[in-house]
Amino acid sequence: MHVVRAAERRRGGVGQGVLTDTRFADAGLTRSGGALHLGGAALTAIAEQVGTPVYVYNAAAIRERYRSLESALGALPHRICYAVKANSTLAVLRILRDLGAGADIVSAGEMARVLAAGFAPERIVFSGVGKATAELRQAVRARLGHLNVESVEELHRLAAIADEERIDVAVGIRVNPDVTTDTHPYISTGRSGIKFGVPVDQVLDAAAFIAGHPRLRLTTIAMHLGSQLSDTEPFRQGIGHLLELAERLRATGSHAIRVVDIGGGLGIRYADERSMDPATFAEAVVPLLAPTGYTVYLEPGRFLVGSAGVLVTEVLYRKHSGGKEFVVVDAGMNDLVRPSHYQAYHEIVELEEGARPALRVDVVGPVCETGDFLALDRTLPDVGAGDRLAVLGAGAYGFVMASNYNTRPRPAEVVVDGGRWWVARPRERVEQLFHDERMSP
Ligand SMILES: Cc1ncc(COP(=O)(O)O)c(C=O)c1O
Repeated sequence: MHVVRAAERRRGGVGQGVLTDTRFADAGLTRSGGALHLGGAALTAIAEQVGTPVYVYNAAAIRERYRSLESALGALPHRICYAVKANSTLAVLRILRDLGAGADIVSAGEMARVLAAGFAPERIVFSGVGKATAELRQAVRARLGHLNVESVEELHRLAAIADEERIDVAVGIRVNPDVTTDTHPYISTGRSGIKFGVPVDQVLDAAAFIAGHPRLRLTTIAMHLGSQLSDTEPFRQGIGHLLELAERLRATGSHAIRVVDIGGGLGIRYADERSMDPATFAEAVVPLLAPTGYTVYLEPGRFLVGSAGVLVTEVLYRKHSGGKEFVVVDAGMNDLVRPSHYQAYHEIVELEEGARPALRVDVVGPVCETGDFLALDRTLPDVGAGDRLAVLGAGAYGFVMASNYNTRPRPAEVVVDGGRWWVARPRERVEQLFHDERMSP
């Protein structure tokens, strides 16, 4: 086996071996005789048996990412609470639970999933800006590790529930530290003027309320700055604000804060951007946190699972229109919304490499929206009906954001582990989509 360099791959040569470009290497993608393999399994075989579109995840790649972060953090007392929103499929959750991860959830639905996957309640953090009363009550009853409140009103509601249920509750305050991040505005969450977190000037009052309540205990000061961050500076600034607040609260003598939760947001490589290197991340944050004695919680989602997944799709048609070339595939914005919603870039490669010439195309889905595309103005090999493509970096915010728009069943999900693979979630059937509906009173 010889190594295929990215330049060779771009030239469209038939390759064999490990693909060194980090977008491929992080996923565990290899080529053998021109056929794309993920975690040692041939993607064409999976597509033939399971059909397309299908999400395929490489368990080994998830483990590798988790361990790289773990080892970079070293002796710092910490817990990695996987942000379940990135990919909540039970098989993926089980991989992370078995590695020792905790879980960061944002809904009762996610709570049900992580409990079903075997996470211990005390290792679960409940975040989210709009937890409904019923969700707060369920979380209190389940005795989760702690709940990160995001507003003073939510705190008051939680206090009432704790009283009614006669259950003591560990509380974190998610602070809005007003830190600017260089990411898409839809996933920038730590700035002033957006809906997330308790503004810094309300934190002391919120904490005083907690101190005065017999059932509440302030254990955690938290933040989450945003997603797909590649720069460590916002983390350093945010951590600075959190530690300052934690000190002020400690000085009141009313709180026993033991956790500083620095959120998630570690970025991955989709195109030519830098991914967050765990060692660089640790070099930036550990010196700030280690002397404090706090246990540090992290809530990475995308970093752990994003690179590990691909979406396999089949070409339905080619079409020339308005001076442009279109590749119409069987996966649409309902299957992977990131390109249309965030203008996100996902690398697209052939499953079976051929010596086809390259051309500029739009890769579009079957959904009745002009915004239904996977790639615009992209150089791809001249593929035709029946050829299959892999959309890379689809392990995070892929299936979880899929919808049934156009009454399209959501795709199947497959997990590859040690060369074996299984259907972790079967493709939805059309009948499932309307079996509860009533056509008349
Ligand atoms: C509170 C919280 N924690 C963690 C995450 C995970 O972010 P990422 O997947 O970028 O690591 C999010 C994402 O929105 C979040 O809202």
